[in-house]
Amino acid sequence: MPHPKTAEKMMNSAGPIERALLPRLVHITEAAAIAAAYQMGRGDKMFADHVAVEAMRRMLNSLDMKGVIKIGEGERDEAPMLYIGEELGTGKGDILVDIAVDPLEGTNLASDGVPGAISVMAMSEPGGLFNGPDIYMDKIVVGPDVVRYEKNNPSEKIDLDAPVANNLQIVSKALRRSIDEIIVVILDRTRHQQKIKEIREAGARVKLITDGDLMPGIATSIRGSGVHVVMGTGGSGEAVLTAAAVKILGGNILARLVLPTVANGESKEIIAREMKEMIPRLRTMGIKENNMNDVLDINKLAPGKDVIFSATGITPGQLLREANLFGGGDARIHSISMGSSGVVQLTDTIYICDKEKTPIYL
Ligand code: FBP
Repeated sequence: MPHPKTAEKMMNSAGPIERALLPRLVHITEAAAIAAAYQMGRGDKMFADHVAVEAMRRMLNSLDMKGVIKIGEGERDEAPMLYIGEELGTGKGDILVDIAVDPLEGTNLASDGVPGAISVMAMSEPGGLFNGPDIYMDKIVVGPDVVRYEKNNPSEKIDLDAPVANNLQIVSKALRRSIDEIIVVILDRTRHQQKIKEIREAGARVKLITDGDLMPGIATSIRGSGVHVVMGTGGSGEAVLTAAAVKILGGNILARLVLPTVANGESKEIIAREMKEMIPRLRTMGIKENNMNDVLDINKLAPGKDVIFSATGITPGQLLREANLFGGGDARIHSISMGSSGVVQLTDTIYICDKEKTPIYL
């Protein structure tokens, strides 16, 4: 009888960040999600975000590591906490990490109490996550079946600049489904009108979302999720976090930075002004002006070898259940966490503050 030592092998292949910090990471997104869940449906997205940020920051500061925020709540002048460049952790030990956070992804979704709000973060060794400005990225996200198909058919590759129909042809062949069975998730935005038209003309089905394009991106790598492709322009931080997860799961994302003025179809003058303002920021991040339009693949967005990722549901979603609050701080909460070794955990965590009061239900 073969006797595979799967768990032992995987744990032995895990890098130092995964070994030391993955078990802690999930509690960090859980803490932020519980804080945000108390603000769910109260119509105040800024406050919901604020409490999630505070909880995540407190938890990060309790970890023995030297961490730096690479994807965060914005630049130092606009975000007092979890700003890009902020250093976190106790500073003890020899673990250095780059950190990408979105303590509340889907602020509108949480404040309206509708599906899709999550708390999410990733870490890697220094240099392992793309260091870019907090603007938009044009993205296309696909799962491992498409990656495998591309490897076997090197002339057929998903291409951000190719017509939508060509990309959908490749996805359809990779998944062995006809195009009319393919589902594309895209943010419901005016800027996407043409793309949505092209997806429909190509014969695919469209799921429009009002917010939250990060989790659908991850869902492309999970069979049975009902999401085959994510397309369109959304947050650049969301693209990096998607890349961290999808890299572990074997999928792919292609993305390109897009200025907000370009995404929103502003005049040439306004675009030129925004670009001029952006140049010094881009330079500090090592991005040259003429690299702005480069297509970034998964290895540019999440080049790390020791990447860890965690996301926790706040309101119900395709992959994660909503946070349930039981009174007195007790909570039941659902997360997905994973590391470069290939370990993926779907956890259903119950926090019991009052052991006499809270019964556990299956
Ligand atoms: P917030 O959590 O910051 O509100 O972002 C939600 C979100 O919908 C993202 O998922 C998406 O990438 C981005 O906003 C789209 O931006 P915009 O609403 O400006 O089109």
